[in-house]
Amino acid sequence: MQRDPDPQQIADLRADLDDARYTVDGLADAWGPIAAEALGRDDPEPALAALERRPATPAGVLGALFVLGAARPVGAVDSALPRLGAAGAERLGLVRVDGDAVRAVVDLRPYALADESGVASWWIASDPGEMALGGELPEEHVLGAGSASTTLAQILVPTGTGRVLDLGTGSGVQALIAARSAGTVVATDVSARALDFAGFNAALNRVRLDLREGSLYEPVADERFDRVVTNPPFVITPRVDGVPAYTYRDGGFGGDGLVEAVVRGAAEHLAPGGVAQLLGNWEVHGDQAATRERVLGWADGLDVWVVQRDLLDPAQYAETWVRDGGAQPGTARFRTLVRAWLDDFAARGVTAIGAGYVTLRASRRAATLRRFEHLDGAVGSGIGGAIEAALAAHDLQHALADDALADTVLEVAPDVTEHRHYWPGDADPTVIELVQGTGFARVRRVDTVTAAVVGASDGELPLGAIVDAVARLLDADPVDTRAAVLPIVRELWFEGFLALR
Ligand SMILES: C[S@@+](CC[C@H](N)C(=O)[O-])C[C@H]1O[C@@H](n2cnc3c(N)ncnc32)[C@H](O)[C@@H]1O
Repeated sequence: MQRDPDPQQIADLRADLDDARYTVDGLADAWGPIAAEALGRDDPEPALAALERRPATPAGVLGALFVLGAARPVGAVDSALPRLGAAGAERLGLVRVDGDAVRAVVDLRPYALADESGVASWWIASDPGEMALGGELPEEHVLGAGSASTTLAQILVPTGTGRVLDLGTGSGVQALIAARSAGTVVATDVSARALDFAGFNAALNRVRLDLREGSLYEPVADERFDRVVTNPPFVITPRVDGVPAYTYRDGGFGGDGLVEAVVRGAAEHLAPGGVAQLLGNWEVHGDQAATRERVLGWADGLDVWVVQRDLLDPAQYAETWVRDGGAQPGTARFRTLVRAWLDDFAARGVTAIGAGYVTLRASRRAATLRRFEHLDGAVGSGIGGAIEAALAAHDLQHALADDALADTVLEVAPDVTEHRHYWPGDADPTVIELVQGTGFARVRRVDTVTAAVVGASDGELPLGAIVDAVARLLDADPVDTRAAVLPIVRELWFEGFLALR
């Protein structure tokens, strides 16, 4: 792959892909919804069958070639890429022409994202995946935009116009996303091949990236950023012969050492007020409370908020990542690899592996946020905005003693609904829940007093007046009621059920 492709050839490719309607929707139309679902399960057959039955379209030809890994005749490729042609695509390093057959040597597909900054789409070139290769990936595989890439993209707080670092850029997905608003995007990777793909993708999508080769923060020593974004190679991998070390998912550290190094290094590379966000895996050595302290401890000097989205036992974890590498369950290779993972975990006393999101912030004053929570339910849209609002809520209320909080006017967020559950025939509810429709889609069980306070928070009256009125209504002591409710209100404000008017 060419890091600095010829500008005319890349312009021709861009125009051809545009004309072919080589978009997420264009491909879905080319092979239909059933095939699209099957591709999500790495099954190309329904898409190939649909393309055979339907009249050929440029998007269908390109999808067969670059997504499904199927050969196409030179004439069909020339028609689908009228400016570039099969010969030009070969010069760009996208395909190999062998007689009348054209075969892709890269995966090239449209990628679209909708977030707080709007809807955007790109084309991303990467190495062909297992489906196109029909077997295990090579260790130097360069990843395209996978599900983890999208997860990270969707939790990012809006980037702003400052300097962004995408650490471990791979084919450049996060860097392209950040470049929509950022002033500068520095994209690093330990893999020169990855940077070649990132450079090609930047040129194809008309984006400027500052590409730097090297491990972790090495290429940005002494530099600070307003945002650090990283989907690091967080997969915990046994360091023994015979276990492949995939650059894209494995940074060569033992245990969860790579994620620890990324978190520990952030303090030296965040500008004041800067935010780093990453996906990570961390080991649990028996005790969840100790895990909480260990992971939060990596972020010494920073605000830190860890959202653990999943907790896997060692066998589940091993099976997931052995399968991800292409080994099939039931084979001797699968069993050997799973055993290597289990032995590695046993050697360190690992009882479970946590996975989730980490948000770090270089506070302008002393760090005050230290939060680790397990949230494994389905999430809604707008998580990036929810994280940004939670950080702002934390700062605002941190400065407020309870008296000042009582003078604050809050209102219930527009996506919140109250759900009441009753035993049949009972007049009073047994359970009251506040339910968010967006962001983390939290469900919070509350008591009658809190439900009444939240319900009355319409942005008109100060919180203290509402709490006092509810206490009077329920014949409760107002001082005790404030003491009980205000800490809960702080939490509900951080979590986004309540917002500052
Ligand atoms: C999971 S991929 C993420 C790619 C892309 N940023 C995304 O979100 O899809 C991890 C990337 O980190 C790179 N990498 C591996 N070890 C690294 C290291 N020690 N320092 C920097 N990058 C590394 C890999 O080459 C790979 O491109």
